[in-house]
Amino acid sequence: MKVLEAKFVQDFITMCNDGWLQGWHERNGGNASYRIPEAEVESIREDLSFDAVWTPIGTDVPGLAGEFFLITGSGKFFQNVIRDPEASIAVIEVAENGSDYRIVWGLRDGGKPTSELPTHLMNHEVKKRVTNGQFRVIYHGHPVNLIAMTFILPLKDEIFTRELWEMMTECPVIFPEGVGVVPWMVPGGRAIGVETSKLMEEYNVAVWAHHGLFCASDTFDNCFGMFHAVEKAAEIYMKVASTGKPILSTIQPEGFRALAKDFDLTLPEKFLFEKEN
Ligand code: 13P
Ligand code: ZN
Repeated sequence: MKVLEAKFVQDFITMCNDGWLQGWHERNGGNASYRIPEAEVESIREDLSFDAVWTPIGTDVPGLAGEFFLITGSGKFFQNVIRDPEASIAVIEVAENGSDYRIVWGLRDGGKPTSELPTHLMNHEVKKRVTNGQFRVIYHGHPVNLIAMTFILPLKDEIFTRELWEMMTECPVIFPEGVGVVPWMVPGGRAIGVETSKLMEEYNVAVWAHHGLFCASDTFDNCFGMFHAVEKAAEIYMKVASTGKPILSTIQPEGFRALAKDFDLTLPEKFLFEKEN
């Protein structure tokens, strides 16, 4: 079948457009990728072409040798993904050496995969290993409120997790592992990918200070939903902080422990510290 007829491609396009509608993707901001299951690769193989040159990824991902990914293009606008998918996104193949890739479909007018390709692929490599192949979606965007939080809170996993959890009761249910925080770094290279993928060993959410958010999950819906929940909690945080009023009540560590019991969650104790007033 044609690539654009495949359901996973349609779902990917919908996810990108939903993110655009949420305001997470000014200009070319943000990028997304999907590790395509073998059967889905076979379903579109007749529409792929294998004569593009191999190009260095900029890092090594031996755990992804031979895998195919659907991925947004560098400099492409999320708002255009739905209007002209063939020019905005690509299918790429990772070489058997785990260091090179080639474009096998898409980016019709030229271009290359997102500049965050090293981070996407290093995150995929970690998630493939630690979830037994279940996690396939990595999503990056620039959500306003979460970015704002990174200017006024210490850039610590414990602090960000605890504040986000307190903002909305469902948060610890949606991301019980917590969130990791990467201090500001130059984007688009291997170094930020190394730091982010280290966090992905433990978390499904990585905050990039003064930049944005990365989420990893099994399905498009779960990945998008997690991103949405994190940003909504951040919006509540920023609204409360903007009032300048003292917080009179919030969810206490005992409340989180009770929630964990009833919802059968494991909430790491490192996030349930006693706050100093
Ligand atoms: P790309 O256009 O290369 O995907 O870059 C956008 C971005 O958000 C970089 O972090
Ligand atoms: Zn970005």
